[in-house]
Amino acid sequence: MNDFTNLPKLELHLHLEGAAPPAFIRGLAQRKGVDLSGIFDEQGAYKYKGFVDFLRVYEAACTVLTTPQDFHDLTLAVLEQSAAHGVIYSEAFLSPDFCGGGDLLAWRDYMAAIQTAAQTAEAQMGVTLRGCITCIRHFGPEQARIIARCAQETAGDFITGFGIAGDENAGELADFIYSFDAAREAGLGLTAHAGEWRGPDEVRAALKHLRVSRIGHGVRAIDDPALVDHLAETGTVLEVCPGSNVVLGVYPDLRAHPVEKLRAAGVAITVSTDDPPFFHTDMSAEYAGLHRAFGWEQPEFDALAQTGLRAAFCDDSTRARLA
Ligand code: ADE
Ligand code: ZN
Repeated sequence: MNDFTNLPKLELHLHLEGAAPPAFIRGLAQRKGVDLSGIFDEQGAYKYKGFVDFLRVYEAACTVLTTPQDFHDLTLAVLEQSAAHGVIYSEAFLSPDFCGGGDLLAWRDYMAAIQTAAQTAEAQMGVTLRGCITCIRHFGPEQARIIARCAQETAGDFITGFGIAGDENAGELADFIYSFDAAREAGLGLTAHAGEWRGPDEVRAALKHLRVSRIGHGVRAIDDPALVDHLAETGTVLEVCPGSNVVLGVYPDLRAHPVEKLRAAGVAITVSTDDPPFFHTDMSAEYAGLHRAFGWEQPEFDALAQTGLRAAFCDDSTRARLA
């Protein structure tokens, strides 16, 4: 088992803007007369050093995504890549902060453009997209309330989740309770980036304060056996992004990554790429890495698909269609 391209996959942790191919961003920059040469290396790949610099380059790339049409085209480009790697269902984090500047009225137009592209991709490439509105932790809890309003106003068949990303070392998750309560009341599924840069206590905080069913990354839970047991008992789902963690230096290499220990302990695991061009990865490469590092075979990959299906923030008819 070596080529994983055609294995059907569900991806629950993909940042739409973070999945923008560098050539796509360069093209927009050229057309709009914006100098973004500093964020690319000689090969044309994104250039950054460490996590905080990654966030800076990510935000710089987003500055040329300025119209609903840009997001329409971006969505098609991203889903084309996903479909090429066997992804049949994708949940993308959409950040109103990076499109429409959190403007509630403009946001509807951006969302409509993304949804139109998603419908085209579904018809032409067989990949289903759902959106998870995401606030940015280092922009603070007040801004997050505005983003939660965007989520409330667009919640429905397409926008099905709410989350928080950004710098885990900024502020405390308890400060975002209001936004997560609002999103929950709007019927949205909830996930939070936690346990990527901070330890088990941050995962506990996400569960306690934000009452999420899924954790973005969550891998540092491995440092607390009682928490690992708790995650396994409660069926809390981890959106694990091994390639991202290795490239950003959370773990030195894949063999040192705790995904296999978490799986063996009974924690519900899904696997995603996070921001594929930033980490030189794709879903086939993630599967191939897990096969090489831990000997994962069909049963482990089937379990990923089953967990992904259970944890997806889509309605039950979509779930039944994907099963
Ligand atoms: N935004 C995009 N990728 C991210 C990551 N790995 N952690 C936190 N925020 C992010
Ligand atoms: Zn992420």
